Amino acid sequence: MASTSVKRLEGKVALITGAASGIGEATARLFSEHGAKVVIADIQDDLGQKVANDLGSSSAIFVHCDVTIESDVKNAVDTAVSKFGRLDIMHNNAGVAGEPKRSILESTQSDFENVIKVNLVGYFLGTKHAARVMIPNRSGCVIMTASVAGVVAASGPHAYTSSKFGIVGLTKNTAVELGSYGIRVNSISPYLVDTPLARDLVGNTDSAFENAYTYLNGKILTKEDIAEAALYLASDEAMYVSGHNLVVDGGFSIANQQINYFAQSN
Ligand SMILES: NC(=O)c1ccc[n+]([C@@H]2O[C@H](COP(=O)([O-])OP(=O)(O)OC[C@H]3O[C@@H](n4cnc5c(N)ncnc54)[C@H](O)[C@@H]3O)[C@@H](O)[C@H]2O)c1
Repeated sequence: MASTSVKRLEGKVALITGAASGIGEATARLFSEHGAKVVIADIQDDLGQKVANDLGSSSAIFVHCDVTIESDVKNAVDTAVSKFGRLDIMHNNAGVAGEPKRSILESTQSDFENVIKVNLVGYFLGTKHAARVMIPNRSGCVIMTASVAGVVAASGPHAYTSSKFGIVGLTKNTAVELGSYGIRVNSISPYLVDTPLARDLVGNTDSAFENAYTYLNGKILTKEDIAEAALYLASDEAMYVSGHNLVVDGGFSIANQQINYFAQSN
């Protein structure tokens, strides 16, 4: 249930890629609680359809969409418009971890290209086709799920890190161009959240998440926390926020973890 009785996305239409699972799914559920109509776009048809069914056929629809295929992305955007009349919020979120290789010598060109294709080219296509239908309305909001891996080095493999730094660049560049049409573009950079993708990156054990480094002692980041950040960026409360990378990491990226003046005894 929404944390307040105020529905912050009433009358808005959102398209979320990668919404069959993890952060995208949590965001679809929160956006729906806040009154948005939601298009769930993913390659996992059964899971995506289940999320749409949970939200109800008058509030949500599932569209099979591989974000690396331009005709799929175009179709997802056009479906949002034909089913719900408009597109207000485009959330580029679908992602892959790629091979968990720690050495560049073991990293393959095909894996590097595949990660860039999903995590960066997919976001380019989503932003392009969202802009196509938002520009005539002279309003809209694009949100990209980046990562702390796009803020500080050595948070992930080379391909994943490169894709996430690229997303931050794409966000800022498109925010400048699309701002003249009243379209805001922002990114969110989460720290570690327990999802299938994160388990591909850091290992399939609970301890990796329970022991994740944070300055917020004892707090564990959840996909619902990231959905709340997306809700803020999508809402009218963020009407003057554009080109921003909203880092949601409990302070992970702001200091050198080897040096902590405050942790030293006097
Ligand atoms: N979980 C974390 O710790 C974390 C941290 C920072 C950023 N992120 C980012 O959050 C985003 C969502 O990931 P998540 O952690 O929720 O993982 P997840 O595995 O739960 O969800 C990723 C979704 O993307 C979909 N997907 C993958 N390739 C696709 C394609 N070609 N076309 C359409 N959909 C595709 C998957 O089917 C899946 O539903 C990703 O961009 C990820 O990089 C995650």
